[in-house]
Amino acid sequence: MAERIEVLLTEQEVNDKIREIGEQISRDYQGKQVYLVCILKGASFFACELAKRISVPVFLDFMSVSSYGSDTMSSGVIRVVKDLDESLKDKDVIVVEDIVDTGRTLSYLLEMLKARGTRSLALCALLDKPERRVTDVHVDYTGFQIPDEFVVGYGLDYDQKYRNLPYIGIVKF
Ligand code: IMP
Ligand code: MG
Repeated sequence: MAERIEVLLTEQEVNDKIREIGEQISRDYQGKQVYLVCILKGASFFACELAKRISVPVFLDFMSVSSYGSDTMSSGVIRVVKDLDESLKDKDVIVVEDIVDTGRTLSYLLEMLKARGTRSLALCALLDKPERRVTDVHVDYTGFQIPDEFVVGYGLDYDQKYRNLPYIGIVKF
């Protein structure tokens, strides 16, 4: 392996933050049911941990999208590879994403999901790289704002590797 991984956020820090977000969502959605839309594959670890920390009823659904362009630079035009199992009509939806980078993928995706008639639509991302943003995407629940570095772990990959790391690390080439 040519690259090495430097710890940015420890397993403990990530888990503590997920608990906080879960508590916040539970308060905000008191008396409602939340429909979590997990964007595969990167957000899967985060979405499952988050779901366990939410105390209101949770429905979990998965969507896989692929962006045209290289893996480190998304074009924003996305293709749905695997769609949701259920309709989003009149549901309180929270899109769960691993990281918001340029924001292109999400601005496209959110428009698409809104058009399905959601009652409400929020965005929750474990990581946010605000310096890289080129579109106007509002993140309702953010775990951590991080510097402009390529990170892996907790579901995030570099060439499909390192998703299984229990912490977030920076890839040093
Ligand atoms: P965006 O459209 O530029 O916001 O792209 C977001 C997507 O790019 C994420 O869902 C990730 O799949 C990928 N991505 C962006 N930054 C990183 C990173 O630092 N590590 C791993 N994947 C990343
Ligand atoms: Mg992703």
